[in-house]
Amino acid sequence: MKHTKIIDLINSTNFLHEVKAKGWVRTFRNNQFIALNDGSTIKNIQCVVDFENLPADLLKKIHTGAAISVTGTLVESKGAGQNVEIQVNNLEVLGEANPDEYPIQPKKHSLEFLREQAHLRVRTNAFGAIMRVRSVLSYAVHKYFQDKGFVYFNAPIITGSDAEGAGEMFRVTSLPLDNLPKKEDGSIDFSEDFFGKTTNLTVSGQLEAEAYAMALGQVYTFGPTFRAENSNTSRHLAEFWMIEPEVAFNNLDDNMDLAEDFIKYVIKYVLEKCEDDLQFLEERLLSEEKNKPQAERSDMSLLQKLNFVLENNFKRVSYTEAIDILKGCKPNKNKKFKYLINEWGADLQSEHERFLVEKHFKCPVILFDYPADIKAFYMRMNEDGKTVRAMDILFPGIGEIVGGSQREERYDKLVERMEAMGVDQEELWWYLETRKFGTATHSGFGLGFERLVLFVTGMTNIRDVIPFPRTPQNAEF
Ligand code: 4AD
Ligand code: MG
Repeated sequence: MKHTKIIDLINSTNFLHEVKAKGWVRTFRNNQFIALNDGSTIKNIQCVVDFENLPADLLKKIHTGAAISVTGTLVESKGAGQNVEIQVNNLEVLGEANPDEYPIQPKKHSLEFLREQAHLRVRTNAFGAIMRVRSVLSYAVHKYFQDKGFVYFNAPIITGSDAEGAGEMFRVTSLPLDNLPKKEDGSIDFSEDFFGKTTNLTVSGQLEAEAYAMALGQVYTFGPTFRAENSNTSRHLAEFWMIEPEVAFNNLDDNMDLAEDFIKYVIKYVLEKCEDDLQFLEERLLSEEKNKPQAERSDMSLLQKLNFVLENNFKRVSYTEAIDILKGCKPNKNKKFKYLINEWGADLQSEHERFLVEKHFKCPVILFDYPADIKAFYMRMNEDGKTVRAMDILFPGIGEIVGGSQREERYDKLVERMEAMGVDQEELWWYLETRKFGTATHSGFGLGFERLVLFVTGMTNIRDVIPFPRTPQNAEF
């Protein structure tokens, strides 16, 4: 007999039939009640065993974490909190989990501890819920763009270009590290490499997406990207997933509209499809909030925050307006900031972004028209010759979730900017050709997928929303 997924058993009303379930034991109470989970839902199914008729040595093998198969009758349950249960006739232990060694016990483990158990933490309720939500969000991303006729396009992972011009790249080489070929001047001779030149893991698929948008109109990428920045924060990963749409003929306003509509769509989708998991995460957060002092408690629950985003327009504010607001917040007066902002042209630190979103506007904010000097070379210069058509979307509790821009489509202006910023034109010859042949207005953005998952799940550390996080400290898994 084939086993049935637990989610289907729980939703079934077809009682008094024989069913089979397979999964991992969550708890085993009174030698009688097994809570069984198979990952198909956050809910466990209760399996009632007749311990008097089960061999004692079998019973001894049933512990939290063990994989088992049960066959029995599906009945309506009288127990609180569940509709159905299985009255077990036959039980097989597929794989034991020695309780003296198995680290995930039925109690609350700290997230720090669970990070050291990345291969097992997904067996907890919280991580099961997070990873199911992550999966549904991925699907929603594709559904949104596919329904709108965007072409999904895969940007290369190994590339010679530094798309952000920020030099935060992981080198990729096929050369033997213990015997690197050297040029006369002592530098490494990459001409002998498999690729014949220096190559890196991509930091963004944007430049390639631009080339594709100039033929297919509307495209998007959704793939892994890599940053060799040594930032050990709760918002940065060395490997993260990015969604990057790029649209021909869109200006910056169209770009903002697309980003806002897209974010609202995926949040709405997940609210509809992940009710049980989000309910669990909501309650988990509420119980954590109770341990905080009143002043630090959030004024909205997770579900309220998600609905708030759906129901309110993102506030669109220019960089210059933002600086005027921040200038008024002197650190010596109210000790708000570690870094004082008093000058137009300064880059915003995450504390400033969070102040704008969480304290000042109290809603998601789209900041636009940043100073050219603090943004990448490819953004379109405004008429003022000082600012570029950049946009960052800032979210409560997260900070920057999206970075995007209208692109510099004018060949001469682009070359000027590349020169000014020391970007290698030879390396990006192909990118420059997109401006030589059939250039047109176009815009796009990148949304950091893990930052979106952070927001939707209410988690606070980015290491907890990706299966096996890659950070400067984390090479074990
Ligand atoms: O602002 P960024 O660097 O923009 C780009 O890469 C553009 N080329 C995107 C584009 O226009 N197509 O990165 C975009 C987003 C950020 O807003 C943030 O959400 C996320 O990617 N991000 C990171 N997420 C996790 N860890 C990191 N180290 C991240 N760096 C950026
Ligand atoms: Mg950015």
